[in-house]
Formats: sequence, structure tokens, C-alpha cells
Amino acid sequence: ESALPLAGILGYLLGSVPFGLVLTRLAGLGDIRAIGSGNIGATNVLRTGHKGLAAATLILDSGKGAFAAWVAASFAGVDAGLLAGFAAVLGHNFPVWLKFKGGKGVATTLGVLLITAWPVGVGACLTWLVVAVLFRISSLAALAALAASPVIALIFATPAHALLAAGLAVLGFIRHRANIRRLVKGEEPRIGRHG
Ligand code: G3P
Repeated sequence: ESALPLAGILGYLLGSVPFGLVLTRLAGLGDIRAIGSGNIGATNVLRTGHKGLAAATLILDSGKGAFAAWVAASFAGVDAGLLAGFAAVLGHNFPVWLKFKGGKGVATTLGVLLITAWPVGVGACLTWLVVAVLFRISSLAALAALAASPVIALIFATPAHALLAAGLAVLGFIRHRANIRRLVKGEEPRIGRHG
């Protein structure tokens, strides 16, 4: 029980490392927040045309969420793992280092789901892939994966995992407000087309 605040802090700090921003800056591409959607995530890094950097951002942003949840679970049990995972997404979305203006938490959420309940993570990733292949819109794929994950968790995991997935889905939808507005207007850019 006493480990829960520590798990939350660990998750937040790990999650708050903005890999997309750091990698693009190291690559000399300037500030990713001035490009495309302005987001710090892999989708927007891809808009720079650097696929390797986008893949690295995806892997590292997922990995930090998975790592936070795994470390906390190893030391303090399942609930600490779930809390650290949620905190990692909070850290990614609201990093203190960027005046709390962070990303949308999709990759980090997928990493957390994969490590805390792999069937849920796999189901969410598959949902993302299917929608991305069909529509070629990253945000739509993310919203579908986020919406599906609590349902998948109810079937293949525990109520606690479903609660985590539901919390992450609510957080994700809130962070995609601008994307949802563009989707409704039919103005959301497609994957592979810069802009
Ligand atoms: O992972 C975020 C994605 O769903 C949307 O990113 O840059 O198109 O707003 P972006």
C-alpha cells in the first residue's frame, strides 16, 4: 500500500520523458511542436519524413510506459503496476518539463496495456492496425484502439485492468479533442501525406 505513491511518482517521471521531442531535436530537425499537428508523438515525427525516428519514438514512448508498469508491478504488485502505467501516460500527456503540454499518450498506453495484460495490448494494437490500414488516419486508429481496450479487458483480463483501460481511454479521448474536431470536418490528414 505504502508503495503506491512511489509507483505513481516513478510512472509519472518515466512517462514525462518526451522522446519524440528529444530525438527530433538531437537529429537537428528543430522543435517538433512547430511541425504538423504540433504533437510530440510518433505520428507527428513521421511527418518530418524520418521513418526511423518515428519508429524509435513509438518504441521508446511505448517502452517507458511498459517499463514503469513492469518495475512497479515487480516490486509492489499488480495494483502498483496499473497505477504506474496510468501515471506514465499522465506524465507523457502532462510533463512538468514542457509546462504540462505533452502528447496524446497513444504509444505509452499501448506499452502499458501490453505489459499489464498482453491480450488487451495485442487487441488494442490489432484494432489500431486494422483501422489504420482501412482509413490511413492515425488519430482514428488510436481512438478505435482506446475505445476497444476496456471491452477487451473485460473479456480477457480483470475488472481492475478494464478500469485502467477505461481511464486511459477517457484520457486519450480528451487529448484527441482537436483531432476529433478535424475528423468530424473531414480535415484530418492521412498517414504518409505530410501536413
Ligand atoms: O498518437 C497521436 C495520434 O493519434 C495523432 O497524432 O499528430 O495526428 O495529432 P497527430
